[in-house]
Amino acid sequence: MGRANKVVLAYSGGVDTSVCIPYLKEEWGVKEVITLAADLGQGEELGPIKEKALKSGASISLVEDGRESFIKDYTFLAIAANAMYENRYPLSTALARPLIAKMLVEAAAKYGADAVAHGCTGKGNDQVRFDISIAALNPDLKILAPAREWGMSREETIAYGERFGIQSPVKKSSPYSIDRNLLGRSIEAGPLEDPMTEPPEEIYAMTKAIAATPDEPEYIEIGFDRGIPTQINGQNLDPISLITQLNEVTGKHGFGRIDMVENRVVGIKSREIYEAPALLLLIQAHRDLESLTLTGDVTQYKRGIEETYSQLIYQGLWYSPLKEALDGFIAKTQERVSGTVRVKLFKGNATIVGRRSNNSIYDSDLATYGAEDQFDHKAAEGFIYIWGLPTKVWSQKTRG
Ligand code: ARG
Repeated sequence: MGRANKVVLAYSGGVDTSVCIPYLKEEWGVKEVITLAADLGQGEELGPIKEKALKSGASISLVEDGRESFIKDYTFLAIAANAMYENRYPLSTALARPLIAKMLVEAAAKYGADAVAHGCTGKGNDQVRFDISIAALNPDLKILAPAREWGMSREETIAYGERFGIQSPVKKSSPYSIDRNLLGRSIEAGPLEDPMTEPPEEIYAMTKAIAATPDEPEYIEIGFDRGIPTQINGQNLDPISLITQLNEVTGKHGFGRIDMVENRVVGIKSREIYEAPALLLLIQAHRDLESLTLTGDVTQYKRGIEETYSQLIYQGLWYSPLKEALDGFIAKTQERVSGTVRVKLFKGNATIVGRRSNNSIYDSDLATYGAEDQFDHKAAEGFIYIWGLPTKVWSQKTRG
């Protein structure tokens, strides 16, 4: 008896996931492996990937376009939450995992599989995200993670694959581990493992080096409708086009790079480089529009929610009850977050230089220092007397 009968395997076309196919069949007695490659805008040619899975022994090789759902059902919620893990990482890789898990679970139901599988190792965050998401969506499905158990080195993995006709890339493979999708690229390993080593320019693909950026600033306006980005420069765009165009224009000005040491779920610190120009800009612009349309107490309370929300995404709890409950709070806050944010792109910076909204609660008659001032200055005195009273009394009683 094998570990499972029919398995749907998350497939990227790389050596590790390709080796998973014969490994599942030969070592773990799986009768049938169906691969699923999710197109989330990784820009990879999916035709050859489909072929490669079949050559590696898959019985069916599925390629499914998840791009629209990726932006609408995952990314837009994260933007509404201004989600930044450890205040810096906009979760461009992490957000893809619950969607891939959902696609796996749906394919398993459709093809009558009793297990799903992925090629994650035991050191990363992605195994956590996949396993928990799959369990949340279908607790009865078995989850197989061969690379977590097989204990083969890189060379051994390649050698194992060759026995089954799996070719590794001919050119000396890059020392980096790169994950990419519509939202951005995550780059780690190789020379980057030394946190003091400056990332070489060659690792970047979506963002220009400052020296290669235009010498003139460019202004763009981003329109939001109830917290969701819908327009660039007044033009309505579908979610995929909006992200794609924004990546181009912001990346061209060198905006959107992050170099950080982050804390993984499994307790390891890792050095990761990100480029996520559109997503970073959208979070910045969205947060700015909230400053115009939300009251101070909601904005400040929401910061705590945002922090928790970011951790939930990072830590694999997208389909958790806490996440769903926080969604309720966030959705309520977004009802009036509509309007336009003006951004100046120049030499690696995206500076917000203006914002407007029909729902603005900014009151110029109260804010002004001019003659139109409506604020009752005398009222401040009594307010300060009461507001500061506990501090004043404390000082009186404790000064020795
Ligand atoms: N550290 C990021 C995360 O946990 C990215 C992980 C994938 N990175 C990679 N270079 N393969 O979301």
